[in-house]
Amino acid sequence: MLSTHPIPKLHGAEPENLLRDSHGRVIRDLRVSITDRCNYRCVYCRTGEGGAQYAELATEEYLRLIRVFVSLGINKLRLTGGEPLLRTDLPAMLRELALLRTPNNEPLDLALTTNGHLLAGLAQTLVDSGLQRVTVSMDAVDAPTFDRITRVPGSHGKVLAGIRAAQAAGLGPVKVNCVLLRGFNDDQILPFAHFARAEGVIVRFIEFMPLEEGRLWTPAIVVSHDEILQRISQELPLLRLTPSAAGETARRYGFADGQGEIGIIAPVTQAFCGACSRIRLTSDGKIRTCLFSHREHDLAGHLRRGASDEDLQAWIRQVVHTKEARHHIGEPGFHKPSRSMVHIGG
Ligand code: 5AD
Ligand code: SF4
Repeated sequence: MLSTHPIPKLHGAEPENLLRDSHGRVIRDLRVSITDRCNYRCVYCRTGEGGAQYAELATEEYLRLIRVFVSLGINKLRLTGGEPLLRTDLPAMLRELALLRTPNNEPLDLALTTNGHLLAGLAQTLVDSGLQRVTVSMDAVDAPTFDRITRVPGSHGKVLAGIRAAQAAGLGPVKVNCVLLRGFNDDQILPFAHFARAEGVIVRFIEFMPLEEGRLWTPAIVVSHDEILQRISQELPLLRLTPSAAGETARRYGFADGQGEIGIIAPVTQAFCGACSRIRLTSDGKIRTCLFSHREHDLAGHLRRGASDEDLQAWIRQVVHTKEARHHIGEPGFHKPSRSMVHIGG
């Protein structure tokens, strides 16, 4: 039985016990990739060929590691991939995660990022298993453009149905992530603004980062925060909304008539590293302290060599301490990390 795993000894979330890096940032947000398999081959992410594939951990291993992170003050957990709905044990995993309590005895903020392809059939099960929020990636409102980006015919209809099913199952307002690339889908900005209002979802436009498998990224392909804002505002006036949480990556805007909301995530032109509270665990159990890390830390290796919870806690503390100050996108000498987004998890 999964739930027989003991929860590591909790030490109370006094500020001095929280995970901290050497730049004074407190780390409370963990993103766990539970697979790097994906049923899409989005042009801005994958080359289209098979690509490298890393190992996945067993459900029990993810759960044990997550429990240790939670004992260290992690209170926000996002499951991601690859495509996390490809793991058939996801509902079982969620049921266990929903039972976890932070050192302050609060449930986790539990979210999932998915491409939405399998979501229509699973939304209710996910809610019943304890999922609270979902983010769906969708890079075009126009069906042919969408299918061209994912390289999977019929994908647009599946994802739209998935978003609607999630809203109906109580996961609303669903967040919809749209990565913008000039010349691929920047004509979708206004259609997405209308889509947000019509469907009652929060569309978040994301500046494209150099994390693709191939070589597509250039400064010119990035559609900036300011440009996105200007192009929407010309037709639909927007008002800046106050951030709903510290360290929030999206700048939030409401439509001036009060109907609907969008966000813009601008890691390239308005980097938010100074307030970053995130670390990541790859599907093969490596800690990445930054999306752009050149070094990974083999947490699962420790686990498999028989480390105790206390050993894992101490090791994680020391790894988090080495978190990079910021990324260096667009600067001379910038090198892409060795793993691409599909392997790191968003
Ligand atoms: N730049 C910005 N966002 C990206 N995503 C995937 N690759 C990139 C990239 N290179 C997005 C996905 C998903 C989220 C996890 O990250 O579309 O919505
Ligand atoms: Fe955090 Fe690294 Fe992303 Fe900056 S680039 S926001 S430090 S994960």
